[in-house]
Amino acid sequence: MIIARTIDELQEAKRERKGSIGFVPTMGALHQGHLSLIQQARKENEHLIVSIFVNPTQFLEGEDLDSYPRKNEADTKICELAGVDILFMPNIDAMYEADELCIGAPAIRGYILEGEKRPGHFDGMLQVVMKLLNLSGATNAYFGKKDAQQLALITQMVRNYFMDVNIIPCEIVRDERGLALSSRNVYLQGDEKERALCLSRSLKRATKMVMAGELNVETIKREMFNVLKDADKVEYVAIVDRAFNALEEVEIGNTIILVAAWVGKPRLIDNIWI
Ligand code: PAJ
Repeated sequence: MIIARTIDELQEAKRERKGSIGFVPTMGALHQGHLSLIQQARKENEHLIVSIFVNPTQFLEGEDLDSYPRKNEADTKICELAGVDILFMPNIDAMYEADELCIGAPAIRGYILEGEKRPGHFDGMLQVVMKLLNLSGATNAYFGKKDAQQLALITQMVRNYFMDVNIIPCEIVRDERGLALSSRNVYLQGDEKERALCLSRSLKRATKMVMAGELNVETIKREMFNVLKDADKVEYVAIVDRAFNALEEVEIGNTIILVAAWVGKPRLIDNIWI
């Protein structure tokens, strides 16, 4: 495995590689969720690039940029064992210059749900993903459905800017009790681990209701809020179509149910595609 820390090192490592390139961008502190993307990309491509970069522009003032878990040594081992060809770990100066040109998240879909609660987050996320996709020269780039709105916006960016890359959505990986894996789960202390399960439980409850024929969005959301009483604060529960338009009735095969809530220190998100 080649570790590239500069743009030149990355270009050098890529040189003369023929065939498809799979790419998995991450912010590190790798867990089984990241690994599932890496493994899928390994199977589907001749070459595999993973990036680890805690991108400052997608963190808001007061968010956890400084304390975001960083585990470069363990992450490097994980990538090596997973058969990664190139691990790209740039520093901030390699990625940004002063007074940059920026593309922004779309005015509506970029400013609802996560975009409403974290205004500016998606601008920074799209900015770095554009850079990383261009740098990697990826044929196929892999993103988790865990960050459903992120995935939808990246797909839109690639469509709107005619970028020559396939965006591959990957299933959410959960622990044995249903908690969606996240680098921020390490912040959960004591009974918060138990209480954090209410997010996935609320989604299971919603799914059961839909299976039993209940399609009314308000009725389902009310029931989900009941299940979410174990959280410290629910930021939103939303039921939208796959393009993130609000729905009054669940459309089976075209619906995403999303939840964001605080449990102790971390703000957790989860969703299910119905
Ligand atoms: P990060 O949170 O490290 O996630 C990297 C990728 O792993 C994302 O595509 C995310 O959706 C996916 N992922 C995280 N947890 C997952 C889980 N439990 N199951 C399946 N996939 C999961 O998302 C980012 O980094 C950044 O915003 C990034 C795209 C790298 C841009 O900075």
